[in-house]
Amino acid sequence: MELIRTVDAMQAHADAARAEEKTLALVPTLGALHEGHLALVRTALEEADHVTVSVFVNPTQFGPEEDYDDYPRDLEGDRDTLEALDVDAMFAPSVEEMYPYVNDAALPGPLAWVSVEHLDEHLCGAYREGHFRGVTTVVTKLLHACKPDVAVFGEKDAQQYVIIQRLVEDLLFDIDIIGVPTVREPDGLARSSRNAYLDPDEREQATVLYDAVTAAEDAIRGGEQEAQAVVRAMENKLAAPDADVQYAEVVDANTLQPADHLAPGQEVLAAVAVFFGDTRLIDNTFVEVPRA
Ligand code: PAF
Repeated sequence: MELIRTVDAMQAHADAARAEEKTLALVPTLGALHEGHLALVRTALEEADHVTVSVFVNPTQFGPEEDYDDYPRDLEGDRDTLEALDVDAMFAPSVEEMYPYVNDAALPGPLAWVSVEHLDEHLCGAYREGHFRGVTTVVTKLLHACKPDVAVFGEKDAQQYVIIQRLVEDLLFDIDIIGVPTVREPDGLARSSRNAYLDPDEREQATVLYDAVTAAEDAIRGGEQEAQAVVRAMENKLAAPDADVQYAEVVDANTLQPADHLAPGQEVLAAVAVFFGDTRLIDNTFVEVPRA
C-alpha cells in the first residue's frame, strides 16, 4: 500500500491506475478506523480494482465548540489496518495541503466553498452550523484529488449520505455514491469513533439510540402514519438517566424536510441525536411507509 501525502502525488497515482484501465474507489474517512469503516473498505474492494482510503480530520466540518482538537487520531494504526486489508493507497494529507491558504495572513482560505442548500436545515444540520458545508467542500476536494469512479459512505451518517448523493447529482460528478448499512455492536449501538469517549455507565445506556430507531421502524411498519406518534415512540425509548436528547425527528428521506402525515410508499428517515455528557451520538433508519 502506498501512503500518499500530497494532492499532486495522489492525482498522479490515480492517473497511473486509470492508465492501466483500473476502476477506482474512494473511501473518505476521518481516520481512527473501526469495524464500521472496514465495512466501507470491504465494499469498495468489491466494487473496484483499486481502492484509496483517505484519512483526514477535516477542520472545516467541526464547529468552534466541537471536538476537532480531541478527535481520535491514529495514523500508524490506520496504516496497518489498511495494509492488512490490501488497500492500494492511503491518502493522508495535512491541513495545509488540503487548504493551501489556511495560514495566509492577508486572506486566510478557504474562499471557495461547496454547499447543498436546504438539506441541512433539519436533523444534525440544525445544530451544527456550517458542518455540512465543511463536509461537502472537503468531499469535493477529495473527489478531485483521488479521481474515483465510485465513493463509499456509511449510512450511519444518513444526512451526510443524502447530501453527498445530491451534491454529486447536482454538480454532475461522474461518480457513483454507494451507501453501506450501519455496523453495530452486538447490543445494537452503532459503531462510532466517539463511542470511545463514553464511560462504562454511559456506554450501557447508549443502546437507547438503537432502541429508539427500532421503535420508529416498528411503529411505521406497524401502520403508524402520524410522524408525531413515531417521534413519541422514539422519545419514550430515549428516557435513560444520562441521555440528553438533542433531537428525535422523522423527515422525508429525499428532501430531509419534516414529515407530518406519512404517505404510503414514502421513504422516511427517523433519526436521533443524544448527548451523554459531552459525547454526542447519532443513530437513524431509512424506512419505507407500507402501502396499504
Ligand atoms: O463521514 C466522515 O467521516 C466525514 O464526514 C468525511 C465524509 C470523511 C468528510 O470529512
